[in-house]
Formats: sequence, structure tokens, C-alpha cells
Amino acid sequence: MGRWPEFSRSAKLDGIGVSEIIRIGAEARNLAASHDDVISLSAGEPDFPTPDNVKLAGINAISTNQTRYTALDGTAELKAAIRRKFRRENGMDYAENEISIGAGAKQVLFNILMATLNPGDEVIVPSPCWTTYLDMIRLAGGMARVVACSEETGFRLSPEQLAAALTPRTRWLLLNSPSNPTGAVYRAAHLAALGEVLRAAPHVGVISDDIYEHVLYDTAPFATMAATCPDLKPRVVTVNGVSKAYSMTGWRVGYAAAAPEIIAAMAVVQSQSSSNPCSISQVAAIEALDGPQDVIASRRDAFRGRRDRIVAGLNAIPHVHCLLPDGAFYAFADMRALLARPELKRRDIADDAALCRYFLHECHVAIVPGFCFGGPGYLRLSYAASDRMIDDALDRLKTGVNRLLAG
Ligand SMILES: Cc1ncc(COP(=O)(O)O)c(C=O)c1O
Repeated sequence: MGRWPEFSRSAKLDGIGVSEIIRIGAEARNLAASHDDVISLSAGEPDFPTPDNVKLAGINAISTNQTRYTALDGTAELKAAIRRKFRRENGMDYAENEISIGAGAKQVLFNILMATLNPGDEVIVPSPCWTTYLDMIRLAGGMARVVACSEETGFRLSPEQLAAALTPRTRWLLLNSPSNPTGAVYRAAHLAALGEVLRAAPHVGVISDDIYEHVLYDTAPFATMAATCPDLKPRVVTVNGVSKAYSMTGWRVGYAAAAPEIIAAMAVVQSQSSSNPCSISQVAAIEALDGPQDVIASRRDAFRGRRDRIVAGLNAIPHVHCLLPDGAFYAFADMRALLARPELKRRDIADDAALCRYFLHECHVAIVPGFCFGGPGYLRLSYAASDRMIDDALDRLKTGVNRLLAG
């Protein structure tokens, strides 16, 4: 087909592109078309299949014709299952009109921001972070106030940093624990300290992205803001979904719990964009939330083994340093000492993006550069991959680094 020369993109999209992670995934797939040894450690999804009972519930939904439009922001049945989940796992009670369901946590987050931000409104985002947040905030007309959180503070936002970032235009603090990409976890004491700062700023709400709640290796129980600081609950939106906990990334079901007026405003956005989340997926999500939960623990144990394996392997590579993450399925490795080596400078490998290109094209291992998350000098390695793939990738990375240092 020919091109349309008069076409121009809306200015709303200025500076916003398809995510770098998706671009790297596509580059890895292209390379894999001609080489059968490409290993991808770039994916942001569990490599396990959706549990059989959940698949069967989806098949049954099709067979029984549950294939029509549903209530705009989710069926009463799925909302009831989500309310049971919040009660059972987080000790939080919500009414039916305090729940919203969308096509993945991503759409739910988008709805919140579209429904609440006015031009110039600010959202505090601790970084490194999932950079989709920044693009969504911009699309919704707001401004991200990115606060750099270093490895020394466990990549967590401190109460002092929060206090310094607040302005009269701050609308939200956006927290993600466990975090993509660092695996950092906010425990109850961290949240309580942030809550103390927020008590003095009643105009500021919290969006708590809990999507990795069940990929948590900590011995301490999972903590979330609305449960840790119940007095702040009316201004907390808790976001979660079935994607990561139940390996259901393709089914597209995410949800939020919040005050009824926020939920109603989110419904307006969803009503004028996608309408209800997939009817079949909603039935499957009820089975995921209400059915046997042992899959969560067994998969978490598998992820823990892989985490230990990949972090030990990375730390055995010269000039590479990697913290042991407490949650999610990513290792966030510090490559700054390696990048500072003269041997790499001579090869024109000056930053994390160039190092990733080298690993992809010379070692056939796909990894995401840290700059994509606001962490230049780092690499994010997803360990949602088999032990064999992880070992093979580590071998190749080590050989690749040694080759660079010898060169
Ligand atoms: C931090 C974070 N939040 C939300 C999402 C979106 O999840 P969903 O698949 O439910 O849209 C992701 C997916 O990668 C994520 O990493």
C-alpha cells in the first residue's frame, strides 16, 4: 500500500513512542528469525502457562455463551470475587461501587490518570520506574515529577524525598511495590513513614500499583498503603490484576479499588474508550481469584530459585554488581563499573543501550537497558525463563564481557 503524505500525528503523542521494551523484544524476534540460539531476558511476563482450572473456566464461558457486553466496568460476580480477594489477602473491605475492572492494570492506571489530572497537575513518581507511567501521565495532560531513588536507599523513596517533591499542584504519589524494574519492596514501616508525610498534604492521593504483590520473596508479609494507613484509604487507589499472579497477561484483566467518586470518574473514561473488559476473561478471572491458590506459592518458589541463580551469576561477572531483589522477576544489574573500563570505551560501548546492543548482536541475549526505566548504567534482566536459559545466558554474558575486557 502507498503512503499518505498529508498524515501527521496528533501533538498529544509528541515525545511518546512505542515502549523501548517492546522495540527490543521485536529486535530480538527479528534476530531469532535467522538465528535459533537467541535467548530473551526482556519479557515482562511469567513464562508459566495459565493454570488449567482458569483455562477451563474461560472455555466454559464460551460454551455457555457468556460472550456479550457486560456491565461497563466489570460484572457484579467478578467485583464480588475481587472484594473477597481484598478482604482475604489484604484485610481491606470495599463495597461493589468501590471496584473498577478494566483490560489489564495498564488500562486501569490510564483511566485513573485520565479521569483525575488537569493540565499542570503533578504526579510524583519514584524512579527507576516502569516508564509507561511517565507516558501515561503526559497523555493525560499531567506532569511527572520524577524522584531519583538510588541503590543506597534500596531504590525506595524516602519520606524526606517525598516531602521535598510535594507542591500545591501534586495530585498523586505513584508507588509500585514490588517494583518493576528494581524489585524493591516497600514494607509496612516504609509505607507508614510516607503516610506520615501525606497526612500533612490532604490534597495528595496515592496510586498503589500492586501488580507484583504475589511475586514477593520477603519473609515480611506484603504491605499496601490503604491497609497500612487506613485513615488515608479514602485517597488511595489500589491497582492490581491477574496478569502476573496467575500468568494471565494475555487475558487482560486488571482492577482498582478506590472511593466511589474516583471509580465513577474512571467509568466515564472506560465508557468512551473500550467499554467492558472481555466477558470470557472476566469469568476466568473469577476462577483465578476464587479457585485453588497453591499455584501462587509454587511459582513464587520457582522464581525465588531463579532469582538466586541469576543474581549469583551476574555478580560472578567481572565489574558487574547486582542487588538481591525482594520481589518481581527482574534483576537490575549495575554495569557502571564495567562501562567505565577503557577497553569498552575503545569499542565505543559508552552506555547501557550500547552494551545491550552488544549483548544482543554478539551474544544473542536480549536484555533491556536501564535508561528505559530512568536507571542509566543498569540493565534489567527478566528471569521469567527456565534455569537452562538463565544458565546459558549467564555463560554467554560472562564470555562476552571477558571478550570485551580482553579486547
Ligand atoms: C509495574 C507494572 N504495572 C502494571 C503492569 C500492567 O499489567 P497488566 O498486564 O495487568 O496490564 C505492568 C506490566 O508489565 C507492570 O510492570
